[in-house]
Amino acid sequence: MNNVIWKTPGQTGTGTTYYFKAKYECAVRILLAKLEVINAELSIGLGRRVISSTSGRVKTWESIQAKAVKKGYGKADEKALEHICDIAGVRAVCAFMDDVYLVANALKAHHDLRVIKVKDYLKYPKSSGYRSLHLIVELPVYYQGGAEWMRAEIQLRTSAMDFWANLDHQLRYKRGKQEAVLIGEELKEYSAVVAGLDEKMMELRDRIAAI
Ligand code: GTP
Ligand code: MG
Repeated sequence: MNNVIWKTPGQTGTGTTYYFKAKYECAVRILLAKLEVINAELSIGLGRRVISSTSGRVKTWESIQAKAVKKGYGKADEKALEHICDIAGVRAVCAFMDDVYLVANALKAHHDLRVIKVKDYLKYPKSSGYRSLHLIVELPVYYQGGAEWMRAEIQLRTSAMDFWANLDHQLRYKRGKQEAVLIGEELKEYSAVVAGLDEKMMELRDRIAAI
């Protein structure tokens, strides 16, 4: 892990404010470890792997600045950082829809994790058709002699939702093009197909288990 520092372009008072990328990287590592532990304990209980894959990343400084501007703040506005919840972000992909909630509940039971906000885009998909369960959390990162509660975003979704979201993400780069609008509408319809597939897979899984 490199110890790159992010430095805000502006200065506050007499001192310069630094944002340590390393601390966010620690938050990502801790969350990935938590997901690994949860996967192990749930998998033993259920006799199958609950989380198929995990990933994590720290937002680049350029991307943080772009988001600050998108949210109506200046590039160098420190207040924007409090409103960007996904500087540290992890994602866990599960096979089944109910597993997403099992993982979320297991995370909620961790005392060293404060769940600040839950965005249930499974029950209430976004207008784009996007479906996932998002947890905005805070966790203590012990670093250079002190503990700091770092904010992070955890995205939980099924493989089918992940498949859909990755294609939708590709489409986002083509925004503004006429064809992209049409594809977006078609993709939205397939979000419902994905939801139906997720439901069916749970049903079939249970029927197979009952044999
Ligand atoms: P922002 O992260 O500032 O957009 O805040 P928000 O309140 O809109 O958060 P939200 O939970 O909606 O989105 C956070 C993240 O979820 C994004 O950075 C994406 O990774 C993902 N996401 C949200 N909406 C979509 C969508 O329509 N399509 C895809 N592919 N991903 C999405
Ligand atoms: Mg958003």
